[in-house]
Amino acid sequence: MHVAMIGTGYVGLVSGACFADFGHVVTCIDKDGAKIEQLKSGGIPIYEPGLDTLVAQNVKAGRLFFDTEAAEAVKKADAVFIAVGTPSRRGDGHADLSYVYAAAEEIAGLMNGFTVVVTKSTVPVGTGDEIEKILRAKRPDADFAVVSNPEFLREGAAIEDFKRPDRVVVGTDDDRAREIMRELYRPLYLNETPIVFTSRRTSELTKYAANAFLAMKITFINEMADLCEAVGGDVQHVARGIGLDNRIGGKFLHAGPGYGGSCFPKDTLALVRTATDYGSPVELIETTVRVNDQRKKAMARKIMTAMGGDLKGKTVGVLGLTFKPNTDDMRDAPSLDIVPALQAMGAKVQAFDPAGATEARQLLRDIDLKEDPYAVAAGADALVLITEWDQFRALDLDRLKLLMNQPLMIDLRNVYRPEDMRVRGFTYVSVGRP
Ligand code: UDX
Repeated sequence: MHVAMIGTGYVGLVSGACFADFGHVVTCIDKDGAKIEQLKSGGIPIYEPGLDTLVAQNVKAGRLFFDTEAAEAVKKADAVFIAVGTPSRRGDGHADLSYVYAAAEEIAGLMNGFTVVVTKSTVPVGTGDEIEKILRAKRPDADFAVVSNPEFLREGAAIEDFKRPDRVVVGTDDDRAREIMRELYRPLYLNETPIVFTSRRTSELTKYAANAFLAMKITFINEMADLCEAVGGDVQHVARGIGLDNRIGGKFLHAGPGYGGSCFPKDTLALVRTATDYGSPVELIETTVRVNDQRKKAMARKIMTAMGGDLKGKTVGVLGLTFKPNTDDMRDAPSLDIVPALQAMGAKVQAFDPAGATEARQLLRDIDLKEDPYAVAAGADALVLITEWDQFRALDLDRLKLLMNQPLMIDLRNVYRPEDMRVRGFTYVSVGRP
């Protein structure tokens, strides 16, 4: 199969490289010339474990190409994927579809022979219909089908998620398109990955429903964590106690500072807007969005309380700034709420993140970025663990203690065991645990 992948962000680049690894001939296209040059010379513009090797192998094998122009690849393509960004539109929270529609306009002029146009980007219900109209208006003669095929990969585990997904969702009523999609994902049949074929609108909605459900699940356990703190319970035991029930499942039940990232905040908001527009409000998700926003803000108060109620003249050391480990992505990271709030309360903030420093420098004012966790501990009145990078799981606690003004750790990811921290002489505050 020949594939053209429009957009080389997280989803586009990972999907492109993985389809090439499945044996298809893939061209990844992006208007950003610098990005394409970087990719052509072996560089990877995003932080994703294993992606550099995967890209290099497939380039070498002559299956993966990069181009700033879509023309050649789209003309040859059996399937053209639209994997451009759909950020929140400023002001109203709707998904901004201008990049998607611009891609559709461009594809329309280039399609040749039966072409399957696939939305990989997360797009609101009805976007496929609009794309079809755009293509049809410009090319009444063309033979094509518009398919929804949402991507469920997680940053930091993107390749594994793409190659060994729990399921693939394909939305189309067109038999020929269904065959092409089946062929594209053929290697997944070997590990018996279920492919859910459905209508285009249902597929579009399924992606939002999945993200909204997971966001709700996290928010649920976060509220249970607060309740555990109030009644003297342990949220990790609650999570295990409910998660072992197969109907609930144990994943996405880690209490923390609130969900962030490039998907959950934007997609929950977009779903709320779509539902309101259609007169069928999703109140559970409205509440989820509100509770999560409040939670990120409440974390600074939690830290202040743990530090005795006054942060003036105090130094707070922060471990981890990205929205989760194994990414350099700072989008909607809880740290973006927590750090400025601590500063507003009078604290000086010094921090370390293994991959997020460059972005953090642009997004967080007056933050003192250090080289490692021990430099962050030096002179700190408290250490706050915001992102659970692996390297923060095995810190030399005795060394930290010696460097700090006082041994106080506020662990917003429940990485350490309260008992161990007590034995080490730390005052230890975590989330939803005694
Ligand atoms: C998410 C979805 O998982 C993925 O299927 C979709 O395609 C894109 O959005 P991603 O944003 O990369 O992926 O990260 P994910 O690992 O899902 O984490 C999202 C946020 O939830 C992070 O801020 C994370 O810290 C938080 N989280 C996750 C929790 O607080 N607790 C959990 O138990 C799980």
